[in-house]
Amino acid sequence: MLHTLGFKRGGIVECIVTTYNTDGSPNAAPMGVYTLSDREVVMKLHSGSDTLENISRIGCAVLNITYDALLFLKSALLKHTPEVDPGELLCSALNAPYLKAAHAYAAVDAEVVKSYSLNDSLGESRISVVKGRVREVRVLKPFPQAPCRGFFAAVELAIDLSRGRRGREGELMRTMRRTLPVREYREIEEFLKSLRIQTGSFR
Ligand SMILES: Cc1cc2nc3c(=O)[nH]c(=O)nc-3n(C[C@H](O)[C@H](O)[C@H](O)COP(=O)(O)O)c2cc1C
Repeated sequence: MLHTLGFKRGGIVECIVTTYNTDGSPNAAPMGVYTLSDREVVMKLHSGSDTLENISRIGCAVLNITYDALLFLKSALLKHTPEVDPGELLCSALNAPYLKAAHAYAAVDAEVVKSYSLNDSLGESRISVVKGRVREVRVLKPFPQAPCRGFFAAVELAIDLSRGRRGREGELMRTMRRTLPVREYREIEEFLKSLRIQTGSFR
C-alpha cells in the first residue's frame, strides 16, 4: 500500500495532514510521517496542535502528498485559511477530508499510543506519539513529479518558521527564486510579506 506512494520503511516523509476541527471545519498542517511498515505509520505531534486534538477526538486523519510549495508554508503558518481549505471533499474510507491539491493520499485510523516530554533547543514541550493504520490509498493525479529544489527549500523554510527558527531564510528564498516558476515564487514572497516575514533582500 504505502510503498506505492514512496513511503519506505524506516524513513520519514513530509505530508500535509488533514482532519476535522470541532466546529466541522477542515484543518491542514504539515507533519513528518515515519513509516513503520507498508500499512503503519507513526507521527510525533507537539501538544497544542489542532491536528493532535482532532486525531485524539476523531481517531483518523488523511496524509496528503503534494508538491505545492506555498501550501506547505500556508498550512504550517496559518490557522484557518480559505486557500488551504480542503473543502467538502471527504475521504471515502474515514471521517476526514483530503486536500484538493493532493496528488495522492493515505487515509489512516489514528490513535495516541504514548506521550513524553521533550527538552530541546526550543525548550520544554510535550510530544504525543500517534500510530496510524492505513485504510485507503488513493492516487488523484498522475505521478511522477519531477523534483524542483524550490519545493524543498519552501518545506525547509516552513519548518524553520513554524519553529520560530531564523537564519536560513536568505539562502532558501534564493533557491526558490532560482528554481520555481516566477508566479509561484512571487506568491510565496507575497504570502510571507503578508505575515510581515522579511523577504526584501534575498536577491
Ligand atoms: C515540513 C513540516 C513538518 C512538520 N512536522 C511536524 C511534526 O512532525 N510534528 C509537529 O508537531 N509539528 C510539525 N510541524 C509543525 C506544524 O505543521 C505546525 O506547528 C502547524 O502550525 C500545526 O498546525 P495545527 O495546529 O493545525 O495542527 C511541521 C511543519 C513543517 C513545515
